[in-house]
Amino acid sequence: MSDFVPGAASTSMKHESALLHVTGQAAYIDDLPEPRGTLHLVPGLSTKAHARIVSMDLDAVRAAPGVVCVLTADDVPGENQISPVHREDEPLLATDHVHFWGQVMFAVVATSRQAARQAVRLAKIDYEEKPAILNIAQARENGSPMVWRSLIMQRGDVERGLKAAPRRLSGQIEIGGQEHFYLEGQAALAQPGEAGEMRVWSSTQHPSETQHLVAAVLGRPHHLVTTEVRRMGGAFGGKETQANAWACLAAIAADRTGQAVKARLDRDDDMMATGKRHDFLIDYDVGFTDEGDILAVDMVLAARCGWAADLSGPVTDRALFHADNAYFYPDVRLKSEPLRTNTQSNTAYRGFGGPQGIVAAERVIEEVAFATGLDPVMVRLRNVYGTGTRNLTPYHMTVEDSITAEILTKLVERCDYQARKAEIRAFNRTSRIIRRGIALTPVKFGISFTATHYNQAGALVHVYTDGSVQVNHGGTEMGQGLHTKMVQIVLREFGLTADRVRITATTTGKVPNTSATAASSGADLNGMAVLDAVRKIKDRMIVFAVEKWGVAAEDVHFRPDGVHVGGEVMTFQQLAWQVYFARVSLSSNGFYKTPKISWNPATGRGRPFFYFAYGAACAEVSVDLLTGEHSIDRVDILHDAGQSLNPDIDIGQIEGGFVQGAGWLTTEELVWDGAGRLRTHAPSTYKIPACSDRPRIFNVELLENAPNREETIFRSKAVGEPPFVHGVAVLQAISDAIASLDDYRACPKLDAPATPERVLKTLMALQERAVMKTG
Ligand code: MTE
Ligand code: MOS
Repeated sequence: MSDFVPGAASTSMKHESALLHVTGQAAYIDDLPEPRGTLHLVPGLSTKAHARIVSMDLDAVRAAPGVVCVLTADDVPGENQISPVHREDEPLLATDHVHFWGQVMFAVVATSRQAARQAVRLAKIDYEEKPAILNIAQARENGSPMVWRSLIMQRGDVERGLKAAPRRLSGQIEIGGQEHFYLEGQAALAQPGEAGEMRVWSSTQHPSETQHLVAAVLGRPHHLVTTEVRRMGGAFGGKETQANAWACLAAIAADRTGQAVKARLDRDDDMMATGKRHDFLIDYDVGFTDEGDILAVDMVLAARCGWAADLSGPVTDRALFHADNAYFYPDVRLKSEPLRTNTQSNTAYRGFGGPQGIVAAERVIEEVAFATGLDPVMVRLRNVYGTGTRNLTPYHMTVEDSITAEILTKLVERCDYQARKAEIRAFNRTSRIIRRGIALTPVKFGISFTATHYNQAGALVHVYTDGSVQVNHGGTEMGQGLHTKMVQIVLREFGLTADRVRITATTTGKVPNTSATAASSGADLNGMAVLDAVRKIKDRMIVFAVEKWGVAAEDVHFRPDGVHVGGEVMTFQQLAWQVYFARVSLSSNGFYKTPKISWNPATGRGRPFFYFAYGAACAEVSVDLLTGEHSIDRVDILHDAGQSLNPDIDIGQIEGGFVQGAGWLTTEELVWDGAGRLRTHAPSTYKIPACSDRPRIFNVELLENAPNREETIFRSKAVGEPPFVHGVAVLQAISDAIASLDDYRACPKLDAPATPERVLKTLMALQERAVMKTG
């Protein structure tokens, strides 16, 4: 009964809020008209990394001008606990100890943000300092407990495989963390209602979790709390759990004062208090042949998790799920170490640990390439997942559609990799100060939440009697174009134009019990739920038409020129009115759960992913040997978005993802001092890529004729996170440029981020090794 033709061209519709974005009319939480008497909340943060709180004198804070009240742990009416994974390890407000520099100890509620900010500084806190564990090395030395179980994935016999291999090498790679740097900082506005109701506007990727935690800290049932989010000004995983605290604090303050309360974090506080991407230290041991075939891989992936579990368990799991990237390891063992430290609680960030695993996999490829003297792309092609016995992942899921070889081969040709590589090598032979490098890397990224129960979604669609449609679903908009894609699904199904369909703000009052918009699955999950709701309404309209006009169901079609009923054409509005008049519901909910998936962490086996998204990137860079600086001269990306729901938006995701990934691996560096204080807590010291850092030449193509072989929404593929990984090509291209100094004999072992300092250090180490070998 659907007019949808699989494989039919998808169209690019502009972002549903594009006009509002560029004219400054798009409403973010801090833009909403403030209810009369709105108060402002500012958190008071700890200034020690680990300490017992001896005393907290807040008298001067309370007495400061404009201060209405000050909240401490004792003022939490319900549970003082916001652990998103039920570990009871994350108090909303510190009780007797602080566990990192930046932990929220109290909150000031005042008539203006400025008054609250000034009052916060008047607190007199007496600490008894305790030894702080700040990084992975210290955590290991001191036997710091893990925040989550260590996961081991294995297949075959890695010890035997390593021993039997003709060649073997081992090494270590350090991979830095990353600040989310969403343009809109954390924000929440809470408004108390009658009978204990609380309405919270929150810049959250996970409205249901925010609702549940607000209810928990207030000590109320879920049904009294409603969370709403129109859009976020960027999130990138940084608002999956990290939005909760501010919503909870605002709600407690609103409950206490009876006024609306807004918490909109200052950028420095935001960076000091919230978790970031996990940095990793990864040890690898690999057995291989002279021909570059990998035989066995043993890896330990340790992560700095920070003071609380947060999402570190699933994040470190996902690092393991991607430590093979696109390669088959005949014998393999992968182990995670999610280490507890006295730093911000690290959290979700685009790729969710996957990119860190992939960076390690690609370092292994690079090592094997240098050791054998083969081109890294050749080593990649020799080891990609294939068929038969070469398609089983370390978690025992079969890769049914490995298209990595095809994508690599296509990109090698399209970007003229071999000829350019030869030209770069010739250039480097005579260039003293500038050295150029090139690298071409693939990505294979698993799509689905590994926690199976999150793979569900709901929608609610209303057709009004004038034929206009309102669409609601559980996903949130953070700039990725999810809402636009949802609108497109409705347009396609009902044959309507964009002005007839309005997508509302996401709210727990319309679609309950939702999952975070995360794991790139927003469109996959919510798209199917929206489709389900729309089809239910369509079916009722068709049944009505069949009865009323005596046509066959197959003869009712919803098309752009109207609804075709037999030979007649009527407007959607005319049909909707008649259906209403006949007392048939024009509203429906929709539901979806991802089929086929399962995962058992206890056995390390299952099919955690519905499917994989693929792609490859080729990056060319120039490195200045005197300063260590680099520029990205050219990037070519070929990416698999299945049958794209919206090619323009998907290309935007790929471009943005690439730039963010390249920033992570090159310029973005988090620095904590010896006392555990984050020193890079503002754009003055933390360098995200600027417009001028983008590739000089930037070609992005979607893999053509590649509908998803699984039944996803119109055969599309998730596109939010996988392209982030393409930044790896830049890291390896810089490494390739550095390797020229030693005539490509040794792997430079360039760690990330490849800041100028890191590049110079790597250069010098390489030169020293070369001198030692020849001298
Ligand atoms: N794109 C923009 N513009 N802003 C964002 O915050 N978040 C990324 C990605 N793309 C993000 C983005 C992350 S971390 C995820 S998981 C996905 O979008 C989430 O949205 P989706 O599931 O609808 O793709
Ligand atoms: Mo994305 S890290 O799954 O929010």
